[in-house]
Amino acid sequence: MPRRRNGSNLAKWGIIGGAIAGGAALIPLIPLIKKRAMRVTTILKKDHRLVSGMILTLQMTPRINGMVRKTLYAQIRNDLMVHAQAEEEVLYPAMRNFMFTEARSNVDEAYRDHQQIKDLLNDLGTIDPLSDAFDGKLADLKRSIQHHVEQEEGEMFRILTQRMSTDQQQELGRRIHDRKIDLKMRMAA
Ligand SMILES: [Fe+2]
Ligand SMILES: [Fe+2]
Repeated sequence: MPRRRNGSNLAKWGIIGGAIAGGAALIPLIPLIKKRAMRVTTILKKDHRLVSGMILTLQMTPRINGMVRKTLYAQIRNDLMVHAQAEEEVLYPAMRNFMFTEARSNVDEAYRDHQQIKDLLNDLGTIDPLSDAFDGKLADLKRSIQHHVEQEEGEMFRILTQRMSTDQQQELGRRIHDRKIDLKMRMAA
């Protein structure tokens, strides 16, 4: 009996040890797998949530924290510019070229939305972040972004996920990820 128990324990530890060794071998690959598996819509939706969260934080930050408000606004502006540029260079042309005739009007509208958002960002850059005028313009920006995100996720992403294979969505995800990194580095330089 004891021998059998030892044998089964050894077998059990062997399996667990193998699993741990296998798991350890996989750990360095996890970031690569995650990056490779990221669909373009997943990356862009995460950006949308992040910017919405930052705008809400800015709205809730009291004017006495002037520096925090200025820093948050700069971060929102940079993130939005990188996101919009990457979409315009990678996603929108792909949507136009990918036989998505029904998506063309969505793409045209998206370019117009982006221009409106960029104009609002430029206006905000000229207004004191501790003023009522800034809060009013920020509310306009928030509304414009909400409308655009609803259109993008509800219409464009819906068509994209229906018509593109998983591989194609992941390839676009890789391209948009790389372009975002490049744009962020240029912005920081
Ligand atoms: Fe977007
Ligand atoms: Fe967009």
